[in-house]
Amino acid sequence: MSIKPAMNTGDWVSTRVESRLHLAAVSPIADESKAMVEIEGVHYGYGDTLILKDIHLAIPQGQFVALVGVSGCGKTTLLNLVAGQFPGMSGQISIAGQRIKGPRLSTGYMSARDALMPWRTALDNVAFGLELRGVSKGARLSRAKDWLAQVGLIGSEGKYRNQLSQGMRQRVAFARTLAIDPDLVLLDEPFAALDAQTKEELQPKFLQLCEGGGRTVILVTHDINEAISMADRVVVLSKGRGISLDQPVVIPRPRNIADLIDVPEFRDIRHRVREALFS
Ligand SMILES: Nc1ncnc2c1ncn2[C@@H]1O[C@H](COP(=O)(O)OP(=O)(O)O)[C@@H](O)[C@H]1O
Ligand SMILES: [Mg+2]
Repeated sequence: MSIKPAMNTGDWVSTRVESRLHLAAVSPIADESKAMVEIEGVHYGYGDTLILKDIHLAIPQGQFVALVGVSGCGKTTLLNLVAGQFPGMSGQISIAGQRIKGPRLSTGYMSARDALMPWRTALDNVAFGLELRGVSKGARLSRAKDWLAQVGLIGSEGKYRNQLSQGMRQRVAFARTLAIDPDLVLLDEPFAALDAQTKEELQPKFLQLCEGGGRTVILVTHDINEAISMADRVVVLSKGRGISLDQPVVIPRPRNIADLIDVPEFRDIRHRVREALFS
C-alpha cells in the first residue's frame, strides 16, 4: 500500500460536530448524478469455485447501501474487492471515477474481525490510520480523542483491547475507520457480535456518524431488519449467481426498528428481501 500524507487538517472538529447535529434526523442525500462506486462485470472465485458472478452495481455518492446475503455468499469478498485488496479480479471497479488498482487512501474499512491491535491503547488504535497517512502526532492524537468522544468512549483512551467489552471494541474500530475522514465507508458486519441492546444503541449512532460529509457507505450484514432500517437501498447477493435483488428503501428517517414493524413499506421490503435471500 502506498502511503502519503493527504489529510486536510483544517477546522475538522467543528465541521464534524456540526454535521453530526444537522444530519441526525434527515434522510441522507444521494447525488444520483455521480457514481461513487461503480462495479462492472466483476467475477471472482477461489480456486475452481466461482463466488461472485457478473456483479454490476453503481452506487451514487452519499448513498447508504446494505449488502445482504447468506453466510458464505461472498459479501466480505466483494467488500475486499471494493477496498482494492484483491487486484487480480476480472471486471473493473471504479471509485470516484478512478479505476482502483489497490487500496485507496480515503476508503475507510472496518473489517468483520475485531482488528484492534492489542499492544496499542484505544487512542493509539484510533490514531493508527492517521499515522499511516503521515499526520503529525499532536494532530492525530487530538483527532483520535475527538472520535473516541463521538463514539461515547471518553475516559477509555488509555485502555487496551483486553480491557474493553465487545461493544467498546467495535466503537474503537468504528472511530478508527472514520478518523481518516473517508468519503467511502465499508463496514463488514459491525454489529454481528453484539448483544441486542448494544446493537440497538450503536446502530443509530454509527448511522448518524456515517452520514456526516456526504459519505457513501456499504454496510454488509445478514440481518434484514438492520439492513432496511439503516439503508437507502438493500442489495441481495446470492452465491455464484450475482445480485438477486436491488431494492430501494423509501421510508422516512429517522427509522426506529420497533416502530417499523407496523409500516407496510417495511413489511413489503422485508418480504422481498427474504424471498431473494432464500430462493
Ligand atoms: N481466502 C480464501 N480462500 C478460499 N476460499 C475462500 C477464501 N475466502 C473466502 N473463501 C470462500 O468464499 C466464499 C465466500 O466467502 P466470504 O466472502 O467470506 O462470504 P461472506 O462474507 O458472505 O460470508 C465462502 O465459501 C468462503 O469459504
Ligand atoms: Mg463475511
